[in-house]
This record gives sequence, structure tokens and C-alpha cells, in this order.
Amino acid sequence: MNSAKQPSSSRIPNFHTLGLEERQSRLVEATGHALDGLVGSKGLDPSLADSMIENVVGIHALPLGIATNFIINGREVLVPMAIEEPSVVAGASFMAKLVRESGGFVAEADPSHMIGQIQVLDLEDLHVAETVLLEARAQILAAADEAGPMMVVVGGGARAIEVRTFPDSPAGPMLGFYLIYDTVDAMGANSVNTVLEGIAPLIEALTGGRTHLRILSNLADRRLAKATCSLSPATLAFAEFRGENVREGVVEAWAFAAVDPYRAATHNKGIMNGVDAVVIATGNDWRAVEAGAHSYAARKGKYEPLSRWWVDESGTLQGELELPLALGTVGGATGVHPGARDALALMGVKKAQELAEIVVSVGLAQNLAALRALATEGIQSGHMGLHAYQLAMAAGARGGEIEAVAGAMIEEDNILLERAEELLNKLSDE
Ligand code: MEV
Repeated sequence: MNSAKQPSSSRIPNFHTLGLEERQSRLVEATGHALDGLVGSKGLDPSLADSMIENVVGIHALPLGIATNFIINGREVLVPMAIEEPSVVAGASFMAKLVRESGGFVAEADPSHMIGQIQVLDLEDLHVAETVLLEARAQILAAADEAGPMMVVVGGGARAIEVRTFPDSPAGPMLGFYLIYDTVDAMGANSVNTVLEGIAPLIEALTGGRTHLRILSNLADRRLAKATCSLSPATLAFAEFRGENVREGVVEAWAFAAVDPYRAATHNKGIMNGVDAVVIATGNDWRAVEAGAHSYAARKGKYEPLSRWWVDESGTLQGELELPLALGTVGGATGVHPGARDALALMGVKKAQELAEIVVSVGLAQNLAALRALATEGIQSGHMGLHAYQLAMAAGARGGEIEAVAGAMIEEDNILLERAEELLNKLSDE
């Protein structure tokens, strides 16, 4: 992995107001590293892409922005985010700026314990099979480590087994065998699946049953990451909004998600705006992270918000986010994609747990950005400003024309493609 110098501060004042090229050079300057995979458009070469998936004809690109201002566990971090939606990078950066006033985010992540499942059918007696498997625990763990020796070499491997019985499944009595497996710094899907296929014959021999599916579970609830933050009312005040009102507004907004799955889905979508953007920038499997997050949100039999917001006895707003994060810093696309490698280098991250701590903090920042906006001025004012810039570009504006056209539309409160075209025509006539 590249070793970018870690910035002494993730605060790069007015970063968003700089032009593209100036922003690129400020980033390279701050990190002392070319970051070729991130800066510009050299992220992934088509010939490399051709070795990653099938039938490749090109590259699908996304904007790559840098969220500034983050302090996570006392460390200054510049966070790369790949996302097509305006306001997300700005929202994360702004909330990180507020949170840094109280020292930044505090985050922790579990060891990389993945869960692999083997489905066992055609059993004569579920309870006998369950007992046999639990008694053969040591033998099964040893067989798993034999099936995946490389993971043992790097400090991971089989950790525990569990069994669940499903007497009334639609396919008849069924047993679920669960292997808890430490994948260290890998996301681990391939390793877990290899080991499950390796030990399936032993599970059949022990139980006399027939093994069917052998696959990891994306409900990675042994691999949780958690972030917390606190904000004083003074930090939350802006424009005509008093800090106490913003604080209450955020808690009331969270309460809606706590009682209503329709709101919880959108609340969690806002969290995943931040989570996914970093997951994608680092070449990780965002569908796995999405599946894990939403199944975890529904773990109590009701779909709930992944975060919690409350006011403590000193009147400080407290936020907390917890979700499963199966992320790797080695293996998969992370090891191949030059942009992903530079993204990890930019954050100074080598271990999967460190990456999870950053991702969960960005998710919490993103959630706060959405709730704060929704609880005060509404989400559209910020969005529409950025939308104006996009429309100006869609109309064909370039360079200084973009600012002129977008600025005029914002001023007139008339943000439409037709208006952008008219304004651009007028500019060209001048
Ligand atoms: C939009 O991408 C995300 C939000 O809808 C999240 C939320 O409502 O909490 C703004």
C-alpha cells in the first residue's frame, strides 16, 4: 500500500471554494503524495478492469470528493467519498467541523469475525445432530483451519461454532450450522466460503445429513462498528436557529424514525449515503454492507434507525451509530484498484478495523447533516443550490459561466434547465 504522509490537520480552510486543479494540488501538498489513483481520472485502467469482471467494455466513473475536518479517535483524517449525489460530501465535512469542536468522533470496531452458514437437511433427529456437532467443536474448528491455512498464518481462522434448528422450515426439518471465522484485514467472503466448502463433508459425516448451502451471512453482527459524537447547543446554532431548538429538532427527527419504519428507511438511507461513499472509494463490497446494515436494522423484528440521538444531563446533544461493517483493506478490488489503494493511503489505514471506525463516523456525520437540515431550513435549500450548478453544467456552461448561471438562478429562485439555457445564451451574446 502507498504511504501517504498523514495531514497534520484535516481542516483545509475553504477547500470547497477552490477550483478543481487548486484543490488537487492542495491535497497532494497536504499528503506529500501524488495520489494518482484518486486525483484526476486515472483511477482504473480498462485493461485492469478487464481482469476484474466479465465482458468489460469500459469504466463507469463516479465523482470522488474529499470530506474534510474529520477527527476520529484523536486522529485527523481526510476521507475520500465516491458518490453521485450533491450535498453528501459537503454535509459530512460540515458536521465533522462542528463535531471537532468537542474533540471529534470516538469510534470502535469489533474484530473481523464473519459468520459462515451451512444448511443441513435430511436429518433423522435435529437435536441429536445439534448435540453431535457441538460436541465435535474442536474437531470442526481444526478442520476449518486446515481448509484455510493462509488465514491462520496471518492471525485469523476459525473461532467458534453455533447451531440453530428449524423444525418447521418449508423444506422440512432443517439445521443451520454457523462458523464464526476471523478474517483479520480481509472482507473475507472468499475465505469463509472456501472453508465452509472444505468442512461440509465433515458436517455430513458427523450428522448423517445432507449439506446444501455453504455460504457466508451478510448479517455480520459479530463485526459491528460504533461511533459516538457530542455537540453543545452553541455549536448547533446557526442563522436564525437557536442551538437548543436545533438540538431538540434533531432528537424529534430521530424519534420519528424510532417509531415509524417508513421514516426509519429514509433515516438509514441518509446514513448509508456517507457509509457507501467511503466503502465504494475503498473498493469494498457496498452491497454486502447494505445487506448487513438493513438486516441489522430489522434484527428486533421491526425495522429501526441505526443511530440514536438524545440530550444528556448537561444539555449536550449525543449521537451514536452502530452497524455491521464487513470491510477489507486487503484482497478483492481493494488490492487491485489504484483509486482504492490511494483512498486507504490517504486515510492512513492499514487495518480493517481502522477503516470501519472511519466509515461508521462518516455515517454518523451524514445522519446529523440530514437531521439538522430537515429539522431547520429543510433539505432543499442546500440541495437546490448544488442542483443549480449541475443544471448550469448540463446546459453547457463551463468555467466561470457555471458560477454566473447557477448564481443567477439561485438569486431568482428559478432553478430550471430551460432557465439555465436562457441565461447561458444571454451570457454568450454579451
Ligand atoms: C437523501 O439522500 C437523504 C435524506 O433523505 C436522509 C434523511 O431524510 O434523513 C436527506
